Amino acid sequence: METTALQPQVDTADLELRVKSMYRDVAINPHGEYHFEMGRGLAEKLGYEKNDLDNIPPASIESFAGVGYFFDLAGINKGDRVLDLGSGSGMDSFIAALKTGRTGYVAGVDMTDEQLDKANRLVEDFNSDNITFVKGKIEQLDFGDATFDVVISNGVINLCPDKENVFAEVARVLKPGSGRMAIADIVSEVQLPENIVCNSTLWASCIGGAAQEDTYKNKIEKPGMKVIDVKRNTSYGFISKSARGATEKYGVKSVSLLARRI
Ligand SMILES: C[S@@+](CC[C@H](N)C(=O)[O-])C[C@H]1O[C@@H](n2cnc3c(N)ncnc32)[C@H](O)[C@@H]1O
Repeated sequence: METTALQPQVDTADLELRVKSMYRDVAINPHGEYHFEMGRGLAEKLGYEKNDLDNIPPASIESFAGVGYFFDLAGINKGDRVLDLGSGSGMDSFIAALKTGRTGYVAGVDMTDEQLDKANRLVEDFNSDNITFVKGKIEQLDFGDATFDVVISNGVINLCPDKENVFAEVARVLKPGSGRMAIADIVSEVQLPENIVCNSTLWASCIGGAAQEDTYKNKIEKPGMKVIDVKRNTSYGFISKSARGATEKYGVKSVSLLARRI
């Protein structure tokens, strides 16, 4: 059920530092210890196709820290223009580029320098000129209106305190009528309590920023998108004890979701 209560606030400046610090480590040290799974094993478990994974830079896969699979929902066609929000080390962007072909185009946006540096280095191995990674915040996209056919994102929007602004930007850059957003993200069955929402460490770990599912869908639809499909990613699970506790207590879970631009 959606809640109308005033939402507690996280310290956004502290959160941004923690998110950048965590995902800098993910880029530089993908085999370190994290509270979430990463890499090719996770990707295959979530449903990524072996053939796609075999045809993109392996180093983009080792830093993959997504939460679900959405390419079956996205229906990317040859020639499509695709935007990847919070593209990390680039795994989903490279797969999207396989699907658009050279007549299409993929842009990845991320705010963490080390993720961008890694993704940009890997573009050279990929041997294609239809993919670019740019620095930016997904709350304020540096692209024109109606630029993209598809917006994708994996495990990112839960990290953003201002989700309404993110979805307003997605609606703005998608082509009206045909544009679609296919994402995987973390949501919760009930509104999380203040002590979790105000804990920026739990936000950076993809728990604290999980919005209640109906609230999340309303934020998507407000700027002119229609939620078409939502499926739970049962194969995604958190590793740490505290994260697993939040999952059990508040129904924190991964979903893949398709919305169409009206
Ligand atoms: C959980 S990782 C996922 C990365 C990638 N999508 C993947 O599946 O591996 C989250 C990424 O989102 C980026 N990010 C988080 N909040 C952001 C924001 N507001 N604007 C731009 N990037 C953001 C982080 O820098 C990080 O690279």
